[in-house]
Amino acid sequence: NTKGFIFDLDGVIVDTAKYHFLAWKKLANGIGIDFTHEQNEQLKGVSRVKSLEKILSWGNKVISDDEFSELISKKNNDYLSYIEQMSTQEILPDIPKVLNYLTDNNIPVALGSASKNARAILQKVNLISKFNVIVDGNDVTKAKPNPEVFLTAAQNLEVAPENCVVFEDSLAGIEAAKNANMIAIGIGDVTILNKADFVFKDFTEIDLEFIAQL
Ligand code: BG6
Ligand code: MG
Repeated sequence: NTKGFIFDLDGVIVDTAKYHFLAWKKLANGIGIDFTHEQNEQLKGVSRVKSLEKILSWGNKVISDDEFSELISKKNNDYLSYIEQMSTQEILPDIPKVLNYLTDNNIPVALGSASKNARAILQKVNLISKFNVIVDGNDVTKAKPNPEVFLTAAQNLEVAPENCVVFEDSLAGIEAAKNANMIAIGIGDVTILNKADFVFKDFTEIDLEFIAQL
């Protein structure tokens, strides 16, 4: 059976969490709320709107809808100024090895990301041509752990969900993959990603034989 491979973007292909951290910290501190690296961890895989809601609740702060939209757009502009500087050097180790193997063998490859900036980032790191299908935050209404993003990717790849393999670094993303009835491969800490079928620290731990036998 032909497998389809679906990659999360942030934390799997590139480490953008450091840029989200800088932009969220500036926003939070600007309205008198502390923002730590531990809190940033909790925003991995979480949508833009949900992230700001969490920050406001951590700071016990209530703001108007207008201020909310204004803060969200300022944060994204800040984030985009970091993205602007990205290059192929920011691709995480051994990602090209795996993507090249899949595309060289005509194995279907999709992106399944919560980010509305996904296409811009893939273009910056010159990987956009590696994906047969891209489903991002602009294409879905239900955020991970809802399986919508991965089910849409599978449908567009024309591969049955149970034949799809998902690479994810966030717990919400692993849950989304399992909710979609897919094979979930966690990239990161096994104590956090324990609902995954397999967990690796990063792609340097994954060999092509493992991918081939999935
Ligand atoms: C996810 C990130 O991939 O995308 C989250 O892990 C981020 O941290 C979310 O909030 C939405 O991203 P963006 O680029 O649309 O703000
Ligand atoms: Mg991620």
